[in-house]
Amino acid sequence: MYRIRIDSHHCQGHARCLSFLPETVDFDDEGYAQVPEAKSRHAEMTDALRQAVANCPERAFQVVEE
Ligand code: F3S
Repeated sequence: MYRIRIDSHHCQGHARCLSFLPETVDFDDEGYAQVPEAKSRHAEMTDALRQAVANCPERAFQVVEE
């Protein structure tokens, strides 16, 4: 199982993650990424997850294996 984590201390709201995971990533009122708990877990490490990790310039979008 893979779980998305957004490092809220480093997210600057670049929104690149949104372009790879439009159904998953949401934003708070200040424009920082957040992922609802119900959408944070994924059975597989998909290309979209890899791309979102690779394209976050702040390294704030992370996927951890559980
Ligand atoms: Fe934040 Fe990185 Fe997405 S800075 S909005 S987690 S691309």
